[in-house]
This record gives sequence, C-alpha cells and structure tokens, in this order.
Amino acid sequence: MTATFLGLSPAHSASASRAEAYARAHTFERPTLVLDLDRVAQQYLALEAGLGNAHIHYAIKANPAPEILSRLVALGSGFDAASRVEIQMCLDAGAAPSHISFGNTVKKPSDIAFAHSVGVDVFAADASEELEKIAQHAPGAQVYIRLLVDASGADWPLTRKFGTTRDNALALMAEARALDLRPVGLSFHVGSQTRDPMMWAPVLDGIAAVWDAAHDAGFALDLLNIGGGFPAFYGDDIPHPTAYAARVMELVHARFGDVPRVMAEPGRSMVAEAGMIAAEVLLVSRKSPDDLHRWVYLDIGKFSGLAETMDEAIRYQFATDRDHEAMGPCILAGPSCDSADVLYEKRPVALPLGLKSGERIWIRNCGAYTTTYASIGFNGFPPLDVVIV
Ligand SMILES: Cc1ncc(COP(=O)(O)O)c(C=O)c1O
Repeated sequence: MTATFLGLSPAHSASASRAEAYARAHTFERPTLVLDLDRVAQQYLALEAGLGNAHIHYAIKANPAPEILSRLVALGSGFDAASRVEIQMCLDAGAAPSHISFGNTVKKPSDIAFAHSVGVDVFAADASEELEKIAQHAPGAQVYIRLLVDASGADWPLTRKFGTTRDNALALMAEARALDLRPVGLSFHVGSQTRDPMMWAPVLDGIAAVWDAAHDAGFALDLLNIGGGFPAFYGDDIPHPTAYAARVMELVHARFGDVPRVMAEPGRSMVAEAGMIAAEVLLVSRKSPDDLHRWVYLDIGKFSGLAETMDEAIRYQFATDRDHEAMGPCILAGPSCDSADVLYEKRPVALPLGLKSGERIWIRNCGAYTTTYASIGFNGFPPLDVVIV
C-alpha cells in the first residue's frame, strides 16, 4: 500500500465552511464555538479509510459534546476515556463498554472500580502503583503499558509526563501478570499535532524494539495502541487525513507485521476543523504613540477556551469583516486580569489596521481542546458556549 499526499486537509470544503457561514450570520452574547457535526463525521470517515484495520478510539477529551459522541457511536467508533465522567458520557451516548478504553495512566481508584462495574475492561498503566490499583479495583483486567516517547516533532508534545522506559515496561508486564492482570499490549503518544507522518518512524522503531523484547520474554501481546497525534489544519500544510493515516499504518505494518488489534486515538484531528469560535474585539490600544505594535484584546483568552496558545504552541487563524483592508501586526490578548492571558506576543498576529472595539472576530478550526479547557468564570467571564449546526 502506498500512501499519496492529497494536498491540504479539506479544511475549506463546503461542509467545513458551514460553521463559518453560521458563525458569520449570527450574533452571540458571549464567545461561542459553532460546531459542524457532519464535518466531524467526514473527518472520522477520512481517518478510518486510511487507518484500515486499526480501530478508532476517539480521545473524547478533545471535545466531549454529547452530539459528537452519539454521532460517533452511530459510525462505529470506539472511545478513549480519561475519567469516570468521560466513561459515563460515552455510555450515555450509547457506546458499548467493550468499545471504551480507560487510557489515562493516572486514575482515581474509585474511577477504576466504576469502569470495572460497567464492563470497561481495557486500562492503561505506566507504573507499579497504577497496576496495583487496577488489580484491586478491576481484577483480571487487560492492561497495556504506555511507553515514554523521547523525541517529538509535535507542535504540542506530550513527552516526559506519561509513559515508562523500555526496560521498565517488561518489568511492569511481569508485575501485571503476578497481579493476575492480563498484559496485552503497548501504547504511546507521538505528540499532539505531529504534522509530518515521517516523525512517527523513529518513535515506532523504539516501540517495536520493546514489542519484540516482550514477545521474546514470553508475553503474547496482541494490542498496539498508537495513540493520537494526527494533525489538524491551522494554516501550515498538512497531508489529507486519509493519506496521513495510511502512511502511519504503512510504518506500523513495516515494523509490527499483522498485529491482531491496533487502536488509534485521534482527538484533535477529529474535531478541530469542525469548529469556529465567534468572538468580539474589546479594545485596540497602543502603550505609547510610537508603540510599534497595537494590543488587541478579545473577549476570549487563555482561560476561556484558548489554553493551547500557551507558549504560542497552537497558532489559530483569525477572520474579521475587514480582511480586505490593510493589515498590521498586533499582540493579541484575552480579557482577564491575569498578565499570562496573552495569546500571541513572540510572533505577533496580522490583523486589519482598522479593527475597532465592538467588532466581530472569528477563530478558525477551534473544535478541539477549547470548550472543556475554559474556566468556569475567571473574572466573571463566562465559559465558551457551544452551538451545534
Ligand atoms: C492517551 C491519549 N490518547 C489520545 C490523545 C489525543 O491526542 P490528539 O488530540 O493529538 O489526537 C491524547 C491527548 O492528550 C491522550 O492523552
């Protein structure tokens, strides 16, 4: 199978722009994410086409809107849940417990017991204590060991915090077995927003070495969880999702052969391009008459949905009614009193020079990691609202 790159992600296809058309045609009391459900389904099908026999477990942390979960249940998706609440949301949407995996490596014991009681049987772990918790509260469960990924080309890397070293992975499998758990596989996360599929190659090399060592040590692993990392379109070219997923699976097959169960956990790429945030300009100012950069303050910031602008990692695209006018650089900030609430300063954003307080601004491809990141009311600013179209 040879994957060809089909150009840009279909971020500007007819249905992608439906959220934009709706957002532009309406006014909103507060910052609002307009989400196009058909676009989520389109993205699911595009990824599925490339993933082949790998089963999608949507990482619901990216956007747990009940409407998204129900639509994905209807399409046959599985789900990667991080907590009891997320498991309950999947069940409420009609997901079978056998389609839900508990992928957080840091779980509350009561959440493990809940998962076990409703029939969830697949758990992630990367430490001895976690295995002990699982053995106590979900006896006999299947566990996969999450591995550390040390190199990442991702815009939003997930290195260091999660996973165990290669040597320790084998020791954890032996411990799992001694605790009467079933060590069935390995997982990893290549890093969120990994735009180039070839970045997966060195990571997969490392995982395959552990996979082979585990088999040599007598562990009959049959589950490979390749995690998330599939990119969304934020302005830089990315492959079409089908081509991207097919390329990743080529790399997987070349190293692992025919693994009985392969799971993929896309989050961002499933929902980002389905959403557009409608927001408002609150103030345009200069610190002094000769200040090179304007400061533009919006009614949405780091604490009301745009947390992924931390370190300017994820760079959103903006649209206004004045985009045909002359543009100039500005520092973009949120409305709250916290001076950390600056979205882009190191690399200023180009916005129309005529932009004024009270005007509308739209933020493209914001369907992932926004709604649930919003604080409940810092400074009295309400959390991000959601409208489904
Ligand atoms: C265990 C796990 N799987 C999948 C994902 C989804 O990753 P992405 O949004 O990059 O697809 C995450 C994101 O944090 C995760 O922690």
